[in-house]
Amino acid sequence: MIIPSMLSADPTKLGDELIRVSNSGADAIHWDIMDGSFVEAITFGHHIISAHRKLSNLRFDVHLMIEDPEKHLKNFSTAGADVIIVHAETCKHIHRIINDIKSFGKKSGIALNPATSIDSIKYCIDILDMILVMGVNPGNSGQNFIKSQLNKISDLRKILPPETEICIDGGVTDVTIKDCTKCGANSFVSGSYVFQSEDYSSAIQKLKENC
Ligand code: DX5
Ligand code: ZN
Repeated sequence: MIIPSMLSADPTKLGDELIRVSNSGADAIHWDIMDGSFVEAITFGHHIISAHRKLSNLRFDVHLMIEDPEKHLKNFSTAGADVIIVHAETCKHIHRIINDIKSFGKKSGIALNPATSIDSIKYCIDILDMILVMGVNPGNSGQNFIKSQLNKISDLRKILPPETEICIDGGVTDVTIKDCTKCGANSFVSGSYVFQSEDYSSAIQKLKENC
């Protein structure tokens, strides 16, 4: 799956960008929610998600780079998220929050920063739908993929059931996607690679050809 991140879309025409990328072969849409605390930037709130929900039928993955994510699950669920991803580093009660996400009828994901070990989620694997392996430190698009994360992908693939999605977020290009795929990743967020291209369909197609 190739999942464009709206963080890299033109912010003056988000709706048009969403429609365009949804019609260009994207498999899902990734929304980067930043609170100015866990990461420096502040991006989209749940009203932005609900306003855009009707413009695309694709799966909406909501990546919460925010402190106290448990306070915001209901709003993002109601807004139209299909997958809600929280950071292991922000959760005091990871197992509980995964179950809370599932209680809203949503798929659950846990994101791991580059320095975070897979040990933090080892005992939650049976209730997780997705692990989001950060290929960069969170906060910005357009950074280079951190190669040590390839070992993390391989280690995860060994312990996860085949149906659990390993999604890579950050630094995904037509080059880095190859090694990530070899290590066992099966979905890929793409911000700058897709949105900085002239032709979104060709960029998404090129990513698919390389994985
Ligand atoms: C980084 C975000 C990513 C970002 C990826 O904090 O979580 O989703 O948009 O952008 P690229 O693909 O440009 O690295
Ligand atoms: Zn993201």
